Amino acid sequence: MAALLAVALNRRGEQVGVLDADITGPSIPMMFGLHQPPLMSPTGILPAETTGGIKVMSINLLLPSEDEAVIWRGPLISSAIKQFWNEVFWGDLDYLIVDLPPGTSDASLTVMQSIPLSGVVLVTSPQDLAGMVVRKAAGMAKRMGAPILGVVENMSYVTCPKCGEKIEVFGPSQAFRTALKIGSPLLGQLPLDPELARRCDAGEIEEYEAELFEPITEQLVERVPRRKTAPIFP
Ligand SMILES: Nc1ncnc2c1ncn2[C@@H]1O[C@H](COP(=O)(O)OP(=O)(O)OP(=O)(O)O)[C@@H](O)[C@H]1O
Ligand SMILES: [Mg+2]
Repeated sequence: MAALLAVALNRRGEQVGVLDADITGPSIPMMFGLHQPPLMSPTGILPAETTGGIKVMSINLLLPSEDEAVIWRGPLISSAIKQFWNEVFWGDLDYLIVDLPPGTSDASLTVMQSIPLSGVVLVTSPQDLAGMVVRKAAGMAKRMGAPILGVVENMSYVTCPKCGEKIEVFGPSQAFRTALKIGSPLLGQLPLDPELARRCDAGEIEEYEAELFEPITEQLVERVPRRKTAPIFP
């Protein structure tokens, strides 16, 4: 969802960066086909850049091999995320999307404490079990004073390629109930789409036609306050 949002904003002509704060399960670089380590410059670490010009920083760009496991305790995870925020030369961005792991771990805590967030987008799936974890994350965002922009449901259904029927593979959606409990809008529901999985595996997420993601992007753009002043770098 973070990558799709970055792509949608980039298509609108915005300058976009993605900070992959999922240190132990980083999936952003592969989706964009990024495999080269970032370059160093006197102004800081230069983020990798996708074909479409999205700037990306992720632990997976710094590992000797993509498959290498990061087995770190919280403080190390926290310091990596802070470095990605403070020491990466992001330049003048319109949006920086931060991809978080699920739940309320150290990564979420660090991001909510160290990065001035315009808002949090919560991603759920139809199962109530996923909803429960998302409601915990919502509780954390509220306690940390991070505004919740809304809820997006992923993998809501599959559209039968033969008859067009919508099949709810994970059962009826709980997203509306989850959004209601959180007190935030349900921004949209995305189907399971084999084409999306294929594009992600091939590093071609920028080529995926995410029509259904457009209304979600539109609502998010409306809900995020526009920056009026120049950014202050710490
Ligand atoms: N709606 C979808 N349709 C098809 N494939 C999807 C869909 N959503 C996710 N995927 C695929 O599933 C894989 C894992 O997705 P993703 O990277 O979002 O998971 P994740 O980051 O592990 O999730 P989380 O961080 O919430 O645990 C990717 O290959 C992605 O393309
Ligand atoms: Mg993830």
